[in-house]
Amino acid sequence: MSADGAGLPAPRDDLRALDGYHSPQLDVRVRLNTNESPYPPPDAFLDEWTAALRAEGYHRYPDRAASALRAALGERLHQPAARIFCANGSNEVLQTLLLTYGGPGRRALVFEPTYALHSHICRVTATEVVESERGDDFLIDPAAAEATIASVRPHVVFVCSPNNPTGTVEPAETVTRLANAAADVGALLVVDEAYGEFADFSAVDLVTDDRPLAVTRTYSKVWSLAGVRLGFAVAPGPVVAELEKVVLPYHLSVPTQLAGVLALGHQADMAARVARLVEERGRLTTALAEIPGVTTFPTGANFVLLRVHGDARAVWKALVDRGVLVRDFSRWPRVEECLRVTVGTPEENDAFLAALREALTETGVSA
Ligand SMILES: Cc1ncc(COP(=O)(O)O)c(C=O)c1O
Repeated sequence: MSADGAGLPAPRDDLRALDGYHSPQLDVRVRLNTNESPYPPPDAFLDEWTAALRAEGYHRYPDRAASALRAALGERLHQPAARIFCANGSNEVLQTLLLTYGGPGRRALVFEPTYALHSHICRVTATEVVESERGDDFLIDPAAAEATIASVRPHVVFVCSPNNPTGTVEPAETVTRLANAAADVGALLVVDEAYGEFADFSAVDLVTDDRPLAVTRTYSKVWSLAGVRLGFAVAPGPVVAELEKVVLPYHLSVPTQLAGVLALGHQADMAARVARLVEERGRLTTALAEIPGVTTFPTGANFVLLRVHGDARAVWKALVDRGVLVRDFSRWPRVEECLRVTVGTPEENDAFLAALREALTETGVSA
């Protein structure tokens, strides 16, 4: 009998206190809360994909090894297909990494404030979470992190770069030093690059078969395919082989694999989107900096973290009243009074800026 007395079985003890993932999905005019691409995939891609879908036989399971997709990704990233692991969104990649390298009796190190799902998936997989802190500039101090890794002796180390929610990009030197520190204690360094295409540096080129480094990426952001659910890791071949043992067989559907391959044929379109969003990011950041009472943090992602120096929750609500949804971080340690806004289309960004000015006045946060 469950503790609720409802006659239902009780979940695992350590899951009872776990909170689910709470990012409200509201039906509003301007949705700038989950860092998706504001643009749908190109029509040419949709035409190719739907034609390819019709040519497939769905009475058969999909290619379990996702060979064509891994080969195409490997070619694009100048890495062998054996170093590519694909799953249903990078969250599933992270979960598979933790099922394989975390678990009961094992520890993962995170640098807060960072992407909440790293800790959440640790808890779901019964991996102990050890929280370390980023510096005042939200960068990881490599010397401090090396010392922490040596003393905590984690099994997995998470580095999110560009970091969600701050936008901070770690330099190559930090990644290399942390990979060396991870190697010294037998840990795997996971660099989450969900926003990697928007930044100047990517750790993908640092992946080799003898460095304990896995870099995770997604089709959800620049590739405009959040609805398809496709992500991947670039990791040492032996790590990929372990992940393949753990992940469910046939987990990646035929439509997903096809979408992943065909999208890569639209590289120029995707590069143009990145350039457009980076330009808009600059315009948005400049406009935000001119609003009294608002500060922004440097970002290498498709979102901007802003501090409103007042009741951010009230500002968030006033924005929702105006049909604009952003992400409220006001209850998170270190990012109190902060909101995170995804870079949208120029029209969406203008609507957000106008609504923000009104919201700040209405809530008395700035005149
Ligand atoms: C840092 C980070 N990693 C991973 C993800 C998950 O992306 P996916 O849609 O590929 O599961 C997100 C999504 O917002 C993210 O912000």
